[in-house]
Amino acid sequence: MSKNKNNQPIWGVRIKKNSTNLFKKVGGSLSVDKRLFNEDIEASVAHVEMLFKQKIINFKIKNKIVWGLNRIKNEIIKKKFLFNEKLEDIHMNIENRLFELIGEEAGYIHTARSRNDQVVTDFKIWLRKATNVIIKNLDITINNILKKANKNVETIMPGFTHLKNAQPVSFAHYLLAYVEMFTRDKKRFNNNLESLYENPLGVAALTGTSFKIDRSYTTKKLKFKKPTKNSIDTVSDRDFVIDFLYSCSACAIHISRIAEEFIIWNSDAFKLIVLNDKIVTGSSIMPQKKNPDPLEYLRGKTGETFGNLFSMLTILKGLPLSYYKDLQDDKELVFKSFDQLKNSLIILNDVFKNFSVDKKKMLELAESGFLTATDLADYMVRELKYPFRKAYSQTAKIINFAEKNKKKLTELKMHEINRIEPKLNEDVYKIFDLKHSINSKTSYGGTSFENIKKMIRSYKKN
Ligand code: ARG
Repeated sequence: MSKNKNNQPIWGVRIKKNSTNLFKKVGGSLSVDKRLFNEDIEASVAHVEMLFKQKIINFKIKNKIVWGLNRIKNEIIKKKFLFNEKLEDIHMNIENRLFELIGEEAGYIHTARSRNDQVVTDFKIWLRKATNVIIKNLDITINNILKKANKNVETIMPGFTHLKNAQPVSFAHYLLAYVEMFTRDKKRFNNNLESLYENPLGVAALTGTSFKIDRSYTTKKLKFKKPTKNSIDTVSDRDFVIDFLYSCSACAIHISRIAEEFIIWNSDAFKLIVLNDKIVTGSSIMPQKKNPDPLEYLRGKTGETFGNLFSMLTILKGLPLSYYKDLQDDKELVFKSFDQLKNSLIILNDVFKNFSVDKKKMLELAESGFLTATDLADYMVRELKYPFRKAYSQTAKIINFAEKNKKKLTELKMHEINRIEPKLNEDVYKIFDLKHSINSKTSYGGTSFENIKKMIRSYKKN
């Protein structure tokens, strides 16, 4: 590789002294935005092709630049590119190398553009792809959950409120709740695509340009849908960043809630699910332990994801228009949240593939705690024509009696029930049955086995 002669910043003519040492070291973004090299070259090629089409640069220069850019891309891919931290970021590194490769004519590349529009353009192209990667991973997750749900339609578990047994549900119904959560996440990521499809290129530093550029041309070339409308807003806007970081955070919340739930269910106090050896780790001192570390990792990493969102919100708060160095941090935050979420989804999928349900334990737990009490109250409303509040208090009295005498509802004698509510007859026993309770919940979105089967089918169609 030829010696890097232009090893100095582009502004060397104007600024005669090097930046102070520490700032030189920490003020750059190269180690982070290296990752945008492909997008940067793609956008630069589109830009110079547009400049040529508009007769702003000639054919020969355009070809030289495109040749140089392609060569640089290969050098980076083949790890032969010499990155220079002194040159602040990936954009200056590529431009500098272009000078080395094709000489003075490289200087035409920055006609009618600024790093301010360049960086947002690269970033949006990158984020479009990243968004689709997350959506794909969410689809895989949803499919895995559906597979598990399909096997557990008739698995009875206690539904909880306040972590107290509430009413019996199908375990598949619980799993389909996760499908809903991840479907909303997909929607959030998809919604942000609309802004990501607006092309920033051509707004230059903040005002637009006096060159007769064609922003529709670069819009098409770079697969955007339309050019942005306001040059000042374009270089200062990072709403698409906070939307992405918020979408990551919402998804991380969902992952974390599932992780927490599984940790509880896997605990020795609950034992509703068993994590297999692929998703547990041991203790350095207690030989018997199998700890749910991957789940705790998922829950813990949510903190960092929120942190990235809050950093970006704070950077933007009080930042006047238009571009400021503060904005440089946007990429690191997004890359961190993206990498984390992608990893978390992959690990969550490993979890879904590597646990089993202790159906017997689930049923046992559902049989304690009077889970069909509400069914009994509903039954009195229907059969005895009681107002719900009266039925509720009659049921509460029956529960009090059963609790005091350490009996399940199914173990109560008819005469014991009749002492509290004389109008009830033997039919009441079927109301105490868990499966009967579940299958009576036929209202749309309810937990009956038939509803669940239909829901699974409808998700699979989409
Ligand atoms: N490294 C900068 C960033 O990532 C590029 C944009 C710089 N623009 C500027 N006027 N300093 O935000």
